Amino acid sequence: MIIAITGTPGTGKTTLAKKIADYKGFTYVDVYDLIEEKGLCEEFDKDRDCMVVDVDKVVQEIIKIKKEHPDLVIDSHLSHHIPKKYIDILIVTKCDLKELKKRLEKRGYSPTKVRENLDVEIFDICLQEATQEQHKVIIINTNKKIKVESLGI
Ligand SMILES: Nc1ncnc2c1ncn2[C@@H]1O[C@H](COP(=O)(O)OP(=O)(O)OP(=O)(O)O)[C@@H](O)[C@H]1O
Ligand SMILES: [Mg+2]
Repeated sequence: MIIAITGTPGTGKTTLAKKIADYKGFTYVDVYDLIEEKGLCEEFDKDRDCMVVDVDKVVQEIIKIKKEHPDLVIDSHLSHHIPKKYIDILIVTKCDLKELKKRLEKRGYSPTKVRENLDVEIFDICLQEATQEQHKVIIINTNKKIKVESLGI
C-alpha cells in the first residue's frame, strides 16, 4: 500500500508522513533524498530557486523500493504527479496562511520565496493538480498537532 503526501512547502508533509509511517509501520520515503541519492535532478532553476525533476524516474525508483518494502509513505510536493494507479491514498496537507507565513519566515526564506509559496497555498495548486489527476484525496489541516489515530487511515 502507498500513502503519498503532497502540499505546499511548510504545510507539514514531513511531520505528518513520519507520524503515519511510525503509526502504521510503513517505510518512510523522502523524495528529496531519493532525488539526491539517485541523481534525478535534471537541473536547478535559478530563477525559481528549485529543482527540475523527471517524475517518471522518481516513480521508477519508488517501484523499486516497493518491491522490498510493500508499504510506503511518500513525502514530496511532487506526490500528486505520481500516477493514480500506484497511490492508494493521497493526502494534501494544508495550513492557514498566517501560520504558513510564520513557518516559512522562520526557515529564513526570502520574502519572494515566502510570497511564492503562499501563492501556491492560496491557489490550492497541489489540491487542484491532485484532483485533476483524479487522485482519491484526503485534506488535512496542520495548523494544530495531529492525532494520527483519528485520521481513519
Ligand atoms: N500539525 C502540526 N502542528 C503544528 N506544527 C506543525 C504541524 N505540522 C508541521 N508543523 C511545523 O511546521 C513546520 C513545517 O513542517 P514540515 O517540515 O513538516 O513541512 P513540509 O511540508 O515537509 O515542508 P517542505 O515542503 O519544505 O519539506 C515545522 O516547523 C513543523 O514543526
Ligand atoms: Mg518536508
